[in-house]
Amino acid sequence: MRRSVVAGNWKMHGSSAMIEDLVKSLASRVSIDTCDVIVSPPFPYLSLVQQLTAGTGIGLAGQNCSEHTQGAHTGEVAADMLVDLGCEWVILGHSERRQAGETDAQVAAKAAAARSVGLKPILCVGESLAQRQSGEAVAVVTTQLAAVVKDLAAGDVIAYEPVWAIGTGETATPAQAQEMHGEIRAFLAQHQPALAEQTRILYGGSVKAENAAELFAAADIDGGLVGGASLKADDFSAIVGAAP
Ligand code: 13P
Repeated sequence: MRRSVVAGNWKMHGSSAMIEDLVKSLASRVSIDTCDVIVSPPFPYLSLVQQLTAGTGIGLAGQNCSEHTQGAHTGEVAADMLVDLGCEWVILGHSERRQAGETDAQVAAKAAAARSVGLKPILCVGESLAQRQSGEAVAVVTTQLAAVVKDLAAGDVIAYEPVWAIGTGETATPAQAQEMHGEIRAFLAQHQPALAEQTRILYGGSVKAENAAELFAAADIDGGLVGGASLKADDFSAIVGAAP
C-alpha cells in the first residue's frame, strides 16, 4: 500500500508573522502517523519554517529550483541550497510556472538537478480547460510525463493538477481525477514498470476539507497537492486527516 502524501503549496503568499502562526498551529494539529505531510513556503521563509517544523515530522519542499548548479545565475535557487535549508522535496513544473514559459525539457533538467543532490521532485502535470474540451487531456498529460519518465526515480511523486481546477473552486470529480490517475499509472507501467505501483500520484486543484476524503478514496489517488486551503491551519489539517 502506498503511503499518502498531503502537500501544501503556499505559492507566493505569506509574511513572517502569518507563517509563524500557521506553522505553530499546524504542528499541534496534523498527524504524520499515516501520511507524509509537506509544506512548501516561498523561498525567503524556508529557514523560518525549517526552525518551526523541527521535530514535528512535517517535511519541507521548495516551489522550484534551478536546473543549474551554483554559479552566475542571478535570481535562481540551486537544488543543493534547498537541501541546505532542510528541504527533502521540490515542486517542479507547476502549471503557473509552465504558463510563465517553463518547458518540458526544463522540468526534466530541474528534476535531474534535484535528484543529483538527493531532493525528491513532485512533478506536476495537467491540461487546460480548452485541452480537456477538445479531448486532448490524456495526450497533454502523457506528453508532459514523457519528458520526465525516463529518469523517474523511486521516491519521486507525480501531481496531476488540471489547470481548470486550480484556484477556481471547481474540483475535478473523483471519477474524472481517478480516470487520469489511472492513465498516468498505466503510462508509468509501460515506461517504468518497476516504479508504477509504488509511485505516489497526488491530485491538485481546489482540494478542500469537504472534498478531500472522496478524492483520496479513489484507487490511484495517493493524496493531494493543496493550494489555497493549505494557508488555513484548520482546513489543511482536516485535509491531512482525510488521507487514508
Ligand atoms: P488550489 O488548491 O488553490 O486550487 O491550488 C492547487 C495548486 O495549484 C497546488 O499546487
